[in-house]
Amino acid sequence: MIKIRDLSVKYHGKNNETLALDKLSVDIGAGDIYTFIGPSGCGKSTLLYVLSGILNDYTGNVSIDGRNIDPKTKRIGLILQHYGLLPWKNVYQNVLLGVKIKKDKQGLDEYSHYILKKLEIDTLLDRYPKELSGGQQQRVAIARAFILKPDLLLMDEPFSALDAITREKMQELFLEIWQQNRVTTVFITHSVDEALYLGSKIVVLSPAPGKVKKILENRCFQLDNLRTRDEYYAMSMQLREIVSSKG
Ligand SMILES: Nc1ncnc2c1ncn2[C@@H]1O[C@H](COP(=O)(O)OP(=O)(O)OP(=O)(O)O)[C@@H](O)[C@H]1O
Ligand SMILES: [Mg+2]
Repeated sequence: MIKIRDLSVKYHGKNNETLALDKLSVDIGAGDIYTFIGPSGCGKSTLLYVLSGILNDYTGNVSIDGRNIDPKTKRIGLILQHYGLLPWKNVYQNVLLGVKIKKDKQGLDEYSHYILKKLEIDTLLDRYPKELSGGQQQRVAIARAFILKPDLLLMDEPFSALDAITREKMQELFLEIWQQNRVTTVFITHSVDEALYLGSKIVVLSPAPGKVKKILENRCFQLDNLRTRDEYYAMSMQLREIVSSKG
């Protein structure tokens, strides 16, 4: 369980200060997928920086299973909005980065090959990031996070650079992998449909500075029958209204 209490983050520029998050509080249950949705600039990426341990300059409390965030003790799979690939390493080296840091020596095992093939990047292993399209770079970042077999998966609009068909395949793959080990996931998206399709819970953030506007139990999560189509439509309308409402 991730407990976030009164989390505030302020960025200090040369001549200005930006309050990115304003006393944000939410509990993220173990084994659940929480989709976070909110307008551009409301602090979604900032929240992920805090959860991943990249950003320590905040006020409030954040704990994972009762302890402070420590990437050394938790395997945190992180997919940054701008992919976060190291330009001087090729795809193979980038994919193994998280695993290497954890000092695993197995290299590309069967599972890694499976993921690379599913992500359709298995033929690109000796390319460097600058030789890849945006969508290919995004898939390398996804592969790296999945191959780590994380305890916590943090994804910042991971499918945004993909075409609609590839995005659907990636959503399916993500759910398939999640079903195998139910990794606690924080998934950031701009899309109401994606929030509804992937999230067991949906957290709507208010415009900047971000705080929690509403948390919805997703009644449609992983249900697939006619009844849920109506339910899906109803929830989709409800969610759209909350996202665009003032206050
Ligand atoms: N390094 C920084 N220095 C100063 N301000 C920053 C910095 N990074 C982000 N901000 C500001 O903090 C706020 C939140 O930014 P953040 O990137 O978390 O938003 P976001 O919700 O992820 O937006 P988007 O949906 O566009 O990705 C914005 O107002 C942004 O301009
Ligand atoms: Mg962002």
